[in-house]
Amino acid sequence: MKILKTAEELARFVESTDFNHPVGFVPTMGALHEGHITLLKKAKEQNKTAGVSIFVNPLQFNNASDFTNYPIDTDNDIRLLQEAGADFLFIPQKENLLHHFTPPVYDLAKLNDVMEGPFRPGHFQGVAGIVHLLFSLVKPDRAYFGEKDFQQLAVIRHMTKTLNLPVEIVGCPTVREANGLAMSSRNRRLSDEQKEKAGAISRFICSLREVFPENTPTEIIRQEVFRQLEQRGFVPDYFELCNPDTLEPSSLFSSALSLQACIAYHAGEVRLIDNCAYTSV
Ligand code: PAF
Repeated sequence: MKILKTAEELARFVESTDFNHPVGFVPTMGALHEGHITLLKKAKEQNKTAGVSIFVNPLQFNNASDFTNYPIDTDNDIRLLQEAGADFLFIPQKENLLHHFTPPVYDLAKLNDVMEGPFRPGHFQGVAGIVHLLFSLVKPDRAYFGEKDFQQLAVIRHMTKTLNLPVEIVGCPTVREANGLAMSSRNRRLSDEQKEKAGAISRFICSLREVFPENTPTEIIRQEVFRQLEQRGFVPDYFELCNPDTLEPSSLFSSALSLQACIAYHAGEVRLIDNCAYTSV
């Protein structure tokens, strides 16, 4: 695996004969887990060259303590990537990557007005900026993102489409722990008890069909989800049932609509998100 520590080293690799297209790329912020490795495996299956970037992007953190406490585990990340057969790892320092970079302002349409948007001002602009920058340096043919960050995936698809970037965005299903908890780098900061309780929340938002009758108002479901969160000592941010493409919220849980149940809450100092698809029947 080639380890590239600067944009200049990356540029030389991208021009070299080792960089065979199609190229599959997995942007990450490190502290890698099985979810990331699944993305890499998919990238390897579909491309001739497959690699990963690790960069804890300061532009997308609206909360200083979330940024400072973001887990870093580079030695283990490198080991996991080598084992999984990555062809390259781009792991730049902030000064190298962002020194000359003034992030543009992206038109994120209404995708930024719902769910994470109001809770994390500037977050998706920061994500769009770094992903765009990484795409321009790595020049991948395909890029892989987990559906766990559902709104992020919608924002990246929108940005790629509106800017006509020559990259295919591949969304991959959320990888879960045995208890249903969606894998996330932030889970490392949870206690075993919090992990168990958060698993129960994930199971609940994935079993709404079994619990609520057809056309239940979203507000009724939200109240029950919030009650379950509070019962476990968690603090809710939001629960929404939204259109999976436009993210527009639905006021009814109707089986005539494809809906994504999306949730964000705080488990102590850690903020968790998750989502589950309900396809129309
Ligand atoms: O999902 C992430 O890890 C990050 O938001 C991403 C896409 C790597 C951009 O920093």
